[in-house]
Amino acid sequence: MKIFRTKSIEQSLADTEEPEYKLAKTLSAFDLTVFGVGIIVGAGIFTLTGRAANQVAGPAVVLSFLLAALCCGLAALCYAEFASSVPVSGSAYTFSYASMGELVAWIIGWDLILELLLAAAVVAQGWSAYLGVLLGHVGITLPAQYSYGGAVDVPAVLLALFLGALVSLGIKESMRVETVLVGIKVAIVLFVVVAGIGLINPSNYTPFIPAPVPSEGAHSTMTQPLVQALFGLQPAAFGVGGILAGAALVFFAYLGFDVVATAAEETRNPQRDLPRGIIGSLLIATVLYCAVAVVVTGMVRYDQLEPSASLAQAFAHHGKGWMAILISAGAVVGLFTVVLTMIIGCSRLVFAMCRDNLLPMGLATIHPQHRTPTKIIAILTVVIALLAGLTPIGMLEEMVNIGTLSAFILVSIGIPVMRRTHPDLERPFKVPFSPVLPILSAVICIGLTLNLAVETWLRFLVWLALGIAVYFGYGYRHSRLATGRALSPDVEEAVAADRRKS
Ligand code: ALA
Repeated sequence: MKIFRTKSIEQSLADTEEPEYKLAKTLSAFDLTVFGVGIIVGAGIFTLTGRAANQVAGPAVVLSFLLAALCCGLAALCYAEFASSVPVSGSAYTFSYASMGELVAWIIGWDLILELLLAAAVVAQGWSAYLGVLLGHVGITLPAQYSYGGAVDVPAVLLALFLGALVSLGIKESMRVETVLVGIKVAIVLFVVVAGIGLINPSNYTPFIPAPVPSEGAHSTMTQPLVQALFGLQPAAFGVGGILAGAALVFFAYLGFDVVATAAEETRNPQRDLPRGIIGSLLIATVLYCAVAVVVTGMVRYDQLEPSASLAQAFAHHGKGWMAILISAGAVVGLFTVVLTMIIGCSRLVFAMCRDNLLPMGLATIHPQHRTPTKIIAILTVVIALLAGLTPIGMLEEMVNIGTLSAFILVSIGIPVMRRTHPDLERPFKVPFSPVLPILSAVICIGLTLNLAVETWLRFLVWLALGIAVYFGYGYRHSRLATGRALSPDVEEAVAADRRKS
């Protein structure tokens, strides 16, 4: 079956050496870790900690964070093995192309485009919201029609355009800005922790795991989780079930470590450094998140935490309202780097797909000076700016989770498949206890997708159907794997001349 044709790893690696499609190889393990922290630590920690503690987990929200980190850690190990053995742009897309064939690879690439585009737009809007709050603290009010929640979210549009331009300038230039901002963001989170420690009241930790309460669940068919719709299972609040529900909720806060793998071709020593960057950034995020969770639930009793703005409220509760300014500043800086990194990740993914001619190949050329795929970056930036500026996309946030989880599932399954089909492949990093851990990773991720709302599933299926139509309309016939088309016109001409001669 043609749709299961796989692209050999040798071919994928050879493509990265084609002069016209060659990205600049400049990143180190440190850069990749910064890249990872830049995209992981964002809206999640500022908004979800309080919500999860208040609504489902109580002080045990720290266990929810640990559990979610463990699930992501399993997927991260799988990503690390793939990234170390197939260090090519495109992350899960490229891995699946080598292991499970073209159609699966296309679908996963298509899902990831959805994830990254929507996430960039959602986070750009979140950034605009925090910017409004921050400016409000210093007495500046933006015109309601042209800021967050208005007819056109101008700050979100400007952010997208600015970051698109920055990303076009070069990966090293983008990383310089990112390193400074990630430093500021981490410093602010650490400051929140240190400033909060002195305000902890140990009695707030009892009960640590509040007694379970019956949850009403969602009433509407469309917004209820799929498990509830299928099996009538009610979502849990508090108790041990609440810790699990909390983990599903805070999972979002960890998303992004997988995007590190999209920078594979720009890494100097990808085999060694990609696993370090992926696992290192996840570890840093886990430590920061657990520290924030412990401090915030120690400062204010979980049932009095404000679900929407818990960090600021916890400090206001102790008469330190000025901390709210610092926290909004942290969020503005934090979300800035998330959007920046998402644009980089998305452009490298689409670049890999265009280079394989599953999307038009002409888009994939690299700017001769900046060594970035400028055409692709321009198109993505305009799409993100339009989405962020003109649509109320907050409601599509769950789509980000389903897109990511489906990639995690396929990457996890891909590990044992690749071990079987390519036993001799050099694997500088290997997931321990394969196939047990990769299968466990896939099962947990499937479990998490079942907790997503019915409407999220329906939208996802529509997106998939659209993707399959695009594939059979274009990629199926044009795929370089199918046509044997060479990358550079020179090579192509040489091949054609050879054919004419023979
Ligand atoms: N993990 C990212 C965030 O929390 C998506 O913003």
